Amino acid sequence: MKNSGCRGRPDLSALETARADEAAGRLREAVAGVRNWLTTHPGDPEGLALMARLALRLGRAEVARDFAGQTLERDASHREALQISASAFRALGDLAEADRIYDRLLGLDPANPSAWNEKGNIALATDRHEVAVDCFRQALSLIPDHPMITCNLGLALGHAGQHDEATGVLEELTNRPDSPAEAFDHLSAITALRGDMPGAEAVQLAGIERFPDRARSYLLLARLRSTISDRDGAAEAFRQCLRLDPGNREAAFVLSTMGEGETPETPPDEFYAGLFDYYADFFEWHLKEKLGYCGHDLIRTSVEGSLGPGRGLLEILDVGCGTGLCGEAVQPWARAVDGMDFAPKMIRQAKRRGLYRQLEACSALDFLKRTDRRYDLVVAADVFGYIGNPLPLMTAVRSCLRAGGHFCFTAELGDVARFGMGEHIRYVFHPDFLTTAAAETGFDVMSRDQAVMRHDGDEPIRVEVLLLAARD
Ligand SMILES: C[S@@+](CC[C@H](N)C(=O)[O-])C[C@H]1O[C@@H](n2cnc3c(N)ncnc32)[C@H](O)[C@@H]1O
Repeated sequence: MKNSGCRGRPDLSALETARADEAAGRLREAVAGVRNWLTTHPGDPEGLALMARLALRLGRAEVARDFAGQTLERDASHREALQISASAFRALGDLAEADRIYDRLLGLDPANPSAWNEKGNIALATDRHEVAVDCFRQALSLIPDHPMITCNLGLALGHAGQHDEATGVLEELTNRPDSPAEAFDHLSAITALRGDMPGAEAVQLAGIERFPDRARSYLLLARLRSTISDRDGAAEAFRQCLRLDPGNREAAFVLSTMGEGETPETPPDEFYAGLFDYYADFFEWHLKEKLGYCGHDLIRTSVEGSLGPGRGLLEILDVGCGTGLCGEAVQPWARAVDGMDFAPKMIRQAKRRGLYRQLEACSALDFLKRTDRRYDLVVAADVFGYIGNPLPLMTAVRSCLRAGGHFCFTAELGDVARFGMGEHIRYVFHPDFLTTAAAETGFDVMSRDQAVMRHDGDEPIRVEVLLLAARD
């Protein structure tokens, strides 16, 4: 280390070199330089904060958190360290701590738009939509018209149910040349939520015109068209998505179901999870108004037929709970209902019902394999169509049931020998295969019925409703 001529002041040139390395993108060289600096200046807040920032830029959130923490031990009001610390906690999934740190930062620096924006994003991710709206408004009062923050405000307003204002904000933004692509996605989703599917499609297409090389815009267009059973339109959009993003498993999977490649026995989780996540906000409206869905009622009738009237005694698991229609249907039998679904937005909607003891956003198989709980009744309304080969799921359900427990589910019927992909991008089943699968996985059939569970256009969708008892 060189010493400066000025007694008592450290020579900062080593830190400046590290900063220059960082600015030139030589992050590892910068880290080596700061590490050297810290061996000769242990505990120097500037060195520690720079190390924290470099670690964050290198994707090492834990290291960034620790260095930012050390900086703050020495200088509790170090603003950059607070910012880095909050970002690191956020990256590590501790949103509550990140939120507290943004509060500290805003206490010192209330005119920090980035901190307000980040606080808004945390509020959005934790379903505090009104708080998110306030935070984004605060940020915009400091940097009016910032495109991404305006986009975030539109999204938050939509989630907060203020659809008119959300639409206004996002329409104005999408008419601006600096609009981010996401603004078209959010405006399209809100338009769909209001039941205007052609309008939602037009917005997504306008987004594609503006951002023709963005695979995600095509993916969302394809999902939208899938939900309105526009098979050819969805296929074309999936093809465009795959052209722009050849590794996209969702697009490849759907095209395989249309004869463009081989359909796997089990779908990639991200396809249906993504589809239902997208679908969650207008799911119930669509099910009730357009599809005449009654899967949850079929489950209730089947459970009542075999178990008699509900007496609130059972521990129940709702697999693929969606927004919670089925959990509500079996509530009369429940001492407690747990739910799980791999679409996080479905889980958020289900939470609003306030009836579940525990809700988790994860895949059915993951949950069943890892849970220590034992259930009296497991239900799965309209879930098998998205699972493919049902044997692993049935085996996992069997191992989570108490002696004497039951499993009730619906499965769409189709012209297949065992199971396979149907016309509507859902797996369909042969009724005999379902009873064979039940026997193979340790169940006795208590009841089986056939019924129409929904309509796709004018076509009635027939399902088998099975109630199985776990064999000893
Ligand atoms: C058609 S919805 C039915 C929702 C609910 N059971 C009802 O009756 O309203 C199917 C749900 O199953 C979920 N799902 C499908 N496959 C799943 C899997 N492998 N793991 C977890 N959830 C799954 C979807 O995300 C979606 O919410």
